[in-house]
Parts: sequence; C-alpha cells; structure tokens
Amino acid sequence: MKKIIIGNWKLNLDHLEAIQLLQKLNYSIEEDKEEKIDIVVSPSHTSLRSIQTIIDTDKLNIQLSAQDVSQFSEGPYTGEVSSHQLNKLNVSYCIVGHSERRIEFNENDEIINKKIHNLISEDITPIICFGESLEQRNNDQYLDHISNQIDAAVKGLRKDKVNNLIFAYEPIWAIGTGEVASAIDVVEVLSMVKEKISEKPFYDSDTVRFIYGGSVTPDNSHELLNSKIIDGALVGGSSLSVEKFVKIINSIDL
Ligand code: 13P
Repeated sequence: MKKIIIGNWKLNLDHLEAIQLLQKLNYSIEEDKEEKIDIVVSPSHTSLRSIQTIIDTDKLNIQLSAQDVSQFSEGPYTGEVSSHQLNKLNVSYCIVGHSERRIEFNENDEIINKKIHNLISEDITPIICFGESLEQRNNDQYLDHISNQIDAAVKGLRKDKVNNLIFAYEPIWAIGTGEVASAIDVVEVLSMVKEKISEKPFYDSDTVRFIYGGSVTPDNSHELLNSKIIDGALVGGSSLSVEKFVKIINSIDL
C-alpha cells in the first residue's frame, strides 16, 4: 500500500502564506519521495483555488485536500461549501469527523455520515477521523467508542459507489498536546478498525488506507510510519514547518 502523508494546516495561513508554504515544500521534497508517497496538503477553503492552480499549472506531485464540506448539496445554507464546489476545484480529499469539528461545532455522527456520502458522490476521498477522549481511554471504553464511530460513519455506503477511503485514528488526547500515541496503541486500534471495515461489502484492500494523527513529529514518525499496518499520517502542527514536514516524509523507509 502506498503511504500517505497529509498536512492539515487547520485555521492557519492566508492564501499568500499558503502559496509560499506549498512552493517551499515542493522544492524541499525529494523527487523519489513524491513518486512513492502520496503527499497531500489541506489548507483553508480560502486558499484552495490558489493552491489548486499552482498544483495544476506546475504539475506538482502534491495533492489537495479540503478541511471540511457541507452536509448539504445546495440551497439556503449561508457560509457552507458543497462537495460539488470542491470537486470543481480538483480537490481530491476532504477531512471529515475531525474531533475539533465534533467538539467545537457540535458535529454528530449523522452529519458526518451525510458529509461522507456527499464527498463520495463527487469522487472526493473522505479522510474519516475518529478517536477517543482521555477519559474513554482511561475507562477502557475506547475500542467500543471507536467501533460505534466507524459504524455510524460508513452507514449506507455502497460498494459500487465507493472509490477510496481513508480512516484516520486521531485520539483526542494526542492532538496538539505533544503526547503521541505509541505505535502499539495505534496498531491495536487500527487493527480493530481494519478488521471491521474488511468485512464491509465496499472494502477494497488496494485502496482503503488506515492512518494515524496526533502530535506526529520527526522524532516519532519513523516508528509509526514504518509499521506495516499504519498507512500514513495526518499531521497538524508539524505540517506548518517545511523542515519538519519533509523530515516526516523522509522518515518512511522506501
Ligand atoms: P497535531 O499534529 O498538531 O497534533 O494535530 C493533529 C491533527 O489534528 C491532524 O488533523
């Protein structure tokens, strides 16, 4: 399975700063890495157009992800951005179900499921985030919680409609805290999720990936990214530094 490294820039960078970061990144990534690893950046909506134009015009080996999509297709929903609008911008991926959206914007499993359906209908790969709180981990409820999140996220997905999917384990306690999950913890969760998903009719072992996110840095990426079951990383803070992001990419043994 080709590994994937996604930089989630979150609510950072205006479009000019985003262009700068993309260009620096492009100069800094070694060519063979670009070919053998899927490298994705996920800027704010306001930067998507500029970044997409550069990727297309300069034929960069970097792909584009959005950070969010509407649960609605069109209509009177002020401020929303639809999956069709993202498709027209050549967006290949979109993050859904991130804990920051679940917690700060009250997104529930039903909304997340609608978003996933909308993305798939526009041939955009959903990066489906899930993960437990510290309390759930300490109470040994994390596997049940994650299992429920996964069931709700993929509800109603049909084999003939699904192209690619990415499942991203992001324990809430590891996001932005500097406290990374151990490779053993990640493998435990991703193995459970993979087993669950592999029983679904839409599962395709060639295209569905299982990745990790939460305080990934150059100091911990080697062990995580060279584990056979971890297909990549969703990187927050470290993706805003070209040096760190490139080191994370380079830590994959090819
Ligand atoms: P950090 O890498 O900053 O912990 O963020 C992880 C994340 O939320 C990626 O989506």
